Amino acid sequence: MVKICCIGAGYVGGPTMAVIALKCPNIQVAVVDISVPRITAWNSDTLPIYEPGLDDVVKQCRGKNLFFSTDVEKHVSEADIVFVSVNTPTKTQGLGAGKAADLTYWESAARMIADVSKSDKIVVEKSTVPVKTAEAIEKILTHNSKGINFQILSNPEFLAEGTAIQDLFQPDRVLIGGRETPEGKKAIEALRDVYAHWVPVDRIICTNLWSAELSKLAANAFLAQRISSVNAMSALCEATGADVTQVSYAVGMDTRIGPKFLNASVGFGGSCFQKDILNLVYICECNGLPEVANYWKQVIKVNDYQKTRFVNRIVSSMFNTVSGKKIAILGFAFKKDTGDTRETPAIDVCKGLLGDKAQLSIYDPQVTEDQIKRDLSLKKFDWDHPVHLQPMSPTTTKNFSCVWDAYEATKDAHGVCILTEWDEFRKLDYQRIYDNMQKPAFVFDGRNIVDAEKLRQIGFIVYAIGKPL
Ligand code: NAD
Ligand code: UGA
Repeated sequence: MVKICCIGAGYVGGPTMAVIALKCPNIQVAVVDISVPRITAWNSDTLPIYEPGLDDVVKQCRGKNLFFSTDVEKHVSEADIVFVSVNTPTKTQGLGAGKAADLTYWESAARMIADVSKSDKIVVEKSTVPVKTAEAIEKILTHNSKGINFQILSNPEFLAEGTAIQDLFQPDRVLIGGRETPEGKKAIEALRDVYAHWVPVDRIICTNLWSAELSKLAANAFLAQRISSVNAMSALCEATGADVTQVSYAVGMDTRIGPKFLNASVGFGGSCFQKDILNLVYICECNGLPEVANYWKQVIKVNDYQKTRFVNRIVSSMFNTVSGKKIAILGFAFKKDTGDTRETPAIDVCKGLLGDKAQLSIYDPQVTEDQIKRDLSLKKFDWDHPVHLQPMSPTTTKNFSCVWDAYEATKDAHGVCILTEWDEFRKLDYQRIYDNMQKPAFVFDGRNIVDAEKLRQIGFIVYAIGKPL
């Protein structure tokens, strides 16, 4: 029986390994992590992440060929294939701070693999890493190897949160990069055989190591670039009377462009787009390509501009002050169908409004009060470095509360901000909300999910992204 071990039981490691276990009953999969609470949760009825369809997959294989454990060394030493799916956040200190990927977690995992291995292994980069990381990992492993043969593969993950299980069941492609040596090709084949249990072989792309590593950064940069492009257009739409939904529909009908990923919004969030583009920018700068670096930097600048523009619009619409006014925040997660708040635009919007002394009442169906408090007290880039957690200033804590119902959040509020596109926000009784709000009652729709015309008929003043007022 082939044995797989995955280091890192997070948003990628957990779902990916659960699906491999489900689709490959002949493979034994162990997911290991240094975080005891995370592993305890994976072994309980309440999984550590909210992801539609995940519970079902885990229940079918856990205890059969899928195991979650903190005994990292035991499972790594027994495995034939070791996936490394640890976090690779943006560096906060030292060389490349604010841009480069922090590979501390990656390097410590690699050193541990070298330490405990007693048999040959394929080591798979599942985390998103800077191009050429495999070379560094190879060095660490071979210089500490005690005669053991390691083959390094790059197998970046393309799943999106909220649709992870669907994305893993039917991926657009699986990408495997490896050395172009006989041993490298053999390792690629071994990993291809795993995916071939359920992925059509013509969707499994095999490349050299550097192309695989770079393709992951490129794919995220291209996706984020589409959002910044449409968000830049949304500002122009507001200035000219065009409607961004109509513009993106017309543009996306061109088969060369396509309709997906053209929804204007308050800005993109999530743990990866910003970090991966910053990483790409840093790599370009290090390779003496400032023009290329500046091109990609602009994607982030437009995203920051969009978030700031949204906050400014709220304040200016509400007669240039939100001081002491109650504003309901509907949605805090970075997108619907996840409880993940990493780099969510809600953090910047809430901080912007708190900076203007608003009183926030926050509701998200999947995000806990503790999480929101943590997020609003962290500095930029610190979210993936738990040691940087700062106590929140008493003024800030006093200025927001978290509630478990959209109606409670909006009661007596002057304005409502929709920051996540949860389906339940489309179906709310907006007449009831209007009746219980201060007047004039404002709605700022950061996701373009409400029917603005209908709300205006009720009496709301509605601002939607990229739409005529
Ligand atoms: P995560 O923070 O949810 O999970 C990482 C886990 O690794 C944590 O539980 C942490 O405790 C564990 N860990 C860190 N160092 C360890 C060590 N030395 N030994 C054992 N465990 C260790 O991160 P994630 O969202 O799963 O992302 C992981 C990687 O995958 C990142 O590089 C990310 O860029 C990439 N990625 C993420 C997504 C996504 O949707 N979240 C999608 C594609 C790629
Ligand atoms: C993204 C990519 O889609 C995945 O392919 C990739 O594997 C992953 O990053 C990663 O490397 O971590 P994810 O961040 O989970 O996945 O979610 P997306 O659906 O891409 O959404 C990202 C952000 O963009 C969200 O805040 C979303 O609301 C926003 N978005 C998305 C828009 O504002 N407009 C759109 O049209 C699409």
